[in-house]
Amino acid sequence: MPVHLHSYTRASPFLDAAVQIFVQTWPSYDLAATRSSFMRYAALRDFHGIVAVSDSVVVGFGFGVRSAPGIRWHDQMTAQLGVDHPALHDAWQLVNLAIAEEHRGHGIGGRLHDALLAAQPCPRALLSTYTTNAQARAMYERRGWYYLHSAFIFPPNPHAYVTMAKELARLSPTAEGRSSVPMERGPC
Ligand SMILES: CC(C)(COP(=O)(O)OP(=O)(O)OC[C@H]1O[C@@H](n2cnc3c(N)ncnc32)[C@H](O)[C@@H]1OP(=O)(O)O)[C@@H](O)C(=O)NCCC(=O)NCCS
Repeated sequence: MPVHLHSYTRASPFLDAAVQIFVQTWPSYDLAATRSSFMRYAALRDFHGIVAVSDSVVVGFGFGVRSAPGIRWHDQMTAQLGVDHPALHDAWQLVNLAIAEEHRGHGIGGRLHDALLAAQPCPRALLSTYTTNAQARAMYERRGWYYLHSAFIFPPNPHAYVTMAKELARLSPTAEGRSSVPMERGPC
């Protein structure tokens, strides 16, 4: 069955489908709290959300926002890595990416990842994931992400995360002033 990618916004029913996949993936999270969190993210600057749809069913999603002061994740990163850390400037955070369990391993996560990075406007991207999440780390490593920190704690959450960054190269706007085309390069 072909899988199609669709952007979604705060008002889209796809947002609720994304919430469902999130709580199926991480059952300890509360549905209503997750929905509120997803709604708040969808109102932030440079929000981009994409769902993967197969046979009219949402089978995966991902989203992110510009990493900026006032966002808890960003503030905790700057507090520990330093406000002047170059990776934290003009950066877009890949906040969430998950594929329904029965649809994993078929290239959907990779496609969502690539589409999200192509859609967002920043010259670099950031993420965090559990240190124990070998599959996700393998995906990110193969796509040129490099490690900023190998055991990052976001208090009061006791879990250890890796934090990662990816530098993106973008073509300058053409002489006619058309939008730039996203181009990626490998890690520095
Ligand atoms: C991580 C996740 C998003 C990957 O999605 P997916 O659709 O299964 O992945 P894909 O089939 O597109 O494979 C992408 C990459 O993942 C890695 N990968 C996939 N299956 C793997 C496996 N069984 N073991 C190790 N690495 C694997 C590979 O590096 C692959 O790279 P390639 O595209 O260059 O071959 C998915 O496993 C998932 O939803 N996991 C639970 C939620 C999660 O951990 N999200 C990410 C952290 S927030």
